[in-house]
Amino acid sequence: MNIVVLISGRGSNLEAIIKGYEEGKIKGKILAVISNKKDAKGLETAKKHNIPSYFINPKDFKTREDYDGHLAEFIKQKNPDLIVLAGYMRILSDLFIETFENKLINIHPSLIPSFQGLKAQKQALDYGSLLTGCTVHFVTKDLDNGPIIIQAVVPIKPEDTEETLSKRILSYEHRIYPQAIKWISEGRVTVNDRRVIVKDAEYGHIPVNPKLEDF
Ligand code: GRF
Repeated sequence: MNIVVLISGRGSNLEAIIKGYEEGKIKGKILAVISNKKDAKGLETAKKHNIPSYFINPKDFKTREDYDGHLAEFIKQKNPDLIVLAGYMRILSDLFIETFENKLINIHPSLIPSFQGLKAQKQALDYGSLLTGCTVHFVTKDLDNGPIIIQAVVPIKPEDTEETLSKRILSYEHRIYPQAIKWISEGRVTVNDRRVIVKDAEYGHIPVNPKLEDF
């Protein structure tokens, strides 16, 4: 399965996905990595792995729709099976989302629908949640709210800071994102309205935090 990855920054999820391809766990290739930020570290990572990488400058376009229209055409030329948002920090216009319906996925560092939007890890800490996590989902016009493919639950500890919690969540992001892409590539993922089923996946693990002692 051939993918295009959109990034804006560090690109650690991109790295995890590249690893999945290089280790042969995911078949196909990464056709392109595209960033809306010139200095995105992920662009360097892509180059190192000989993946075509592109910076498309928002300043070259009058409106978001113009930018996204260009981006959509650019991506279509590559003819990917899937478009992967990996820390892409720009709201996508409706037309872009419609163009790639069911072919566009995102990762968000919370258990959606909790803590959508920016600084999800800080939101979870400030709220006093004891469990948060990360989610891979299909992208719909509702921000951070499309059909859920996989979620990992990550516990919050009393001593956590935004930094320590983000790090703990990130280590699971790096596992669930390549996993979701692999499942899609194997044709195991079906979507029925909001409900996603991964064929032959094992469902039903229950985490509790703090640990139960007496019951
Ligand atoms: C991740 O926390 C991801 O969940 C969020 O943006 C961050 C991107 O990190 N959407 P990286 O660029 O993949 O390192």
